[in-house]
Amino acid sequence: MAARSNITPLCQNILLLGTSTPTKTPNWKENRLKRLLLTALLAIVLLISLAAPAQAGNPANGAKLFNANCAACHMGGNNVILAKKTLKKEALEQYGMASLDAIKNQVTKGKNAMPSFRGRLNTTQIEDVATYVLEQSQKGW
Ligand code: HEC
Repeated sequence: MAARSNITPLCQNILLLGTSTPTKTPNWKENRLKRLLLTALLAIVLLISLAAPAQAGNPANGAKLFNANCAACHMGGNNVILAKKTLKKEALEQYGMASLDAIKNQVTKGKNAMPSFRGRLNTTQIEDVATYVLEQSQKGW
């Protein structure tokens, strides 16, 4: 009995040694692979953010939202109600609207004859439509 109980832990130790050595190597390799993948992922994210520095929203989605919600008054970047307040670069600059934040703010709250879009468009949609307007103003509509 006593001899057996002494051998058993020894056997376990040998077994443990035998199993721990080979598992160490794959674990180490796996960690290196994970780190490599993480680095690659970070590089991709960085590249994407560098490729589109001024883009906060999705302009393609913004274009659809613009046609559905804004074009009635702002067709082609114009303004059918208050002719001088167009969405063209010069007008946006003149009236302090040539930034994503200013456009998002006005679309959210509305101003005079322009209705508020809070409740009709969510924050992502407002971001998208503002991105589209700013991009179009830079392109010249
Ligand atoms: C019912 C007509 C109407 C609709 C619909 C409308 N707007 Fe306007 N928008 C106006 C009017 C009127 C002004 C001028 C407000 C003022 O300054 O008195 C204006 C001004 C603006 C300006 C500032 C232009 C400048 O030169 O200062 C931006 C930007 C703008 N609108 C974006 C949008 C976007 C984006 C949408 C759609 C989500 C939209 N508007 C929907 C009527 C409208």
